[in-house]
Amino acid sequence: MAQAFDVVVIGAGPGGYIAAIRAAQLGFKVACIDEWKNAAGGPAPGGTCTNVGCIPSKALLQSSEHFEHAEHHFADHGISTGTVKMDVAKMIARKDAIVKQNNDGILYLFKKNKVTFFHGRGSFVKAVDGGYEIAVAGDTPATLVGKQVVVATGSNARALPGVPFDEDKVLSNDGALRMGAVPKKLAIIGSGVIGLEMGSVWRRLGAEVTILEGMPTFLAAVDEQIAKEAKKAFDKQGLKIELGVKVGEIKTGKKGVSIAYTTAKGEAATLDADRLIVSIGRVPNTNGLNAQAVGLQLDERGAIVVDDECRTNLPGVWAVGDVVRGPMLAHKAEEEGVAVAERIAGQHGHVNFNTIPWVIYTSPEIAWVGQTEQQLKAAGRAYKAGTFPFLANGRARALGDTTGMVKFLADAATDEILGVHIVGPMASELIAEAVVAMEFRASAEDIARICHAHPSLSEATKEAALAVDKRTLNF
Ligand code: FAD
Ligand code: NAI
Repeated sequence: MAQAFDVVVIGAGPGGYIAAIRAAQLGFKVACIDEWKNAAGGPAPGGTCTNVGCIPSKALLQSSEHFEHAEHHFADHGISTGTVKMDVAKMIARKDAIVKQNNDGILYLFKKNKVTFFHGRGSFVKAVDGGYEIAVAGDTPATLVGKQVVVATGSNARALPGVPFDEDKVLSNDGALRMGAVPKKLAIIGSGVIGLEMGSVWRRLGAEVTILEGMPTFLAAVDEQIAKEAKKAFDKQGLKIELGVKVGEIKTGKKGVSIAYTTAKGEAATLDADRLIVSIGRVPNTNGLNAQAVGLQLDERGAIVVDDECRTNLPGVWAVGDVVRGPMLAHKAEEEGVAVAERIAGQHGHVNFNTIPWVIYTSPEIAWVGQTEQQLKAAGRAYKAGTFPFLANGRARALGDTTGMVKFLADAATDEILGVHIVGPMASELIAEAVVAMEFRASAEDIARICHAHPSLSEATKEAALAVDKRTLNF
């Protein structure tokens, strides 16, 4: 006998679990299905983000940053520590405990909001009168009927052709987050977000890290000036990044991995390493969804085709997050989840794609919102630019972290903020002010006239806004 729900959500990553909670808040009877298993085989809702993405990567970044500070920077403060040691197993166990707290937190939130959770794989069976039949296979086998269905099945790591992930020598983000020991030599293919974050973790712990990147430009999507500044900092740290390479044959053996490649100059080269992380992007995941049973339309990349409001080609079927177009970010997935639940309720859910912030959690952190200088130039838009270096910020000096800058881009005529780009300490937190400002369509002058606490890193934001009109006070 099928169980009837107003809304059935498939996938409990940031897109799905948030959609389920918001729909329940709006008074709907909601089911959420997720197949992720923890080490004991139990449910582990939270998706890629919670299990093998945002949360565990930030836990390891924090541990490795503490280690690096203890090893190299405590002495500047007069603190002597003797030999600093890292217990990798303990670091990984701490990360796992944080992941579990988040899994448990989501199960608690489901209970609190009266969302019925099913642990297993959800797949379309057929369209029925007034909805869709969904089968759940797994721990809690069931047949559900949803009047509305939200698909939030996320994404998987992209493998290099002919080089499957074995999570021992060739690692995806999953294996990269649970290495049992620091590799002596670590190779990474792809100097995007994962390559830089994971490369930073293992370099700080002592690995010799080489990243091979296919593009000739470092972080091509980032504002050029900011990317250059970040690259300088990574070079100084000893993170080796080779740009413009063409990766050839990859051989794995007992000892490790051997990667043949052609350098930017066209020379043949080989990189030998103990392990290899492949971080060359992610692919939308509809495995096992049985999309064809109901005629759900996918594009050539395998993403579910949706309109601006996350409607698929099927009435009453929505899709959000990594499985649809747009940036593969947890907060984008969440915003879409909320908006869809509100649209189902007849409200006007809204996601502003122009103000979605990006953050790379390296040291220095890199964060931005809005347009880059190269995008404005390409669009022929008249703009003003202002930068302020953390070197001239008192709080940054006190912190001992003066790398980088805040950069503002504003419309030449109206002064409206068009983009804010930060490389430096706590960029991930500082960017929030810029997002709020852009959401309210503020001008650079608005930020320049707001009182910012002293001494704080946020004063660099105010000063960069002043710099747009060439009137910084502290530089
Ligand atoms: P997912 O989180 O992938 O969740 C999909 C869920 O659906 C999974 O639990 C899966 O088991 C389940 N599922 C799939 N098919 C079925 C089915 N048929 N039946 C039942 N369940 C199913 N983003 C950020 O914004 N900030 C970060 O710092 C960040 N760090 C990251 C670090 C790494 C290493 C990685 C890999 C990603 C990171 N991301 C980060 C990206 C972020 O994880 C994703 O954008 C986000 O998880 C997408 O959410 P989602 O709900 O669309 O999909
Ligand atoms: P990415 O798209 O960020 O970077 C992939 C890199 O690999 C690019 O620079 C690309 O040019 C390069 N590349 C692709 N094919 C290649 C090849 N054959 N040889 C050499 N280089 C090649 O993808 P990544 O790092 O795998 O991360 C996937 C996504 O996960 C990100 O785009 C982001 O959406 C999300 N993520 C977000 C994080 C955050 O918000 N802090 C952290 C980690 C991941």
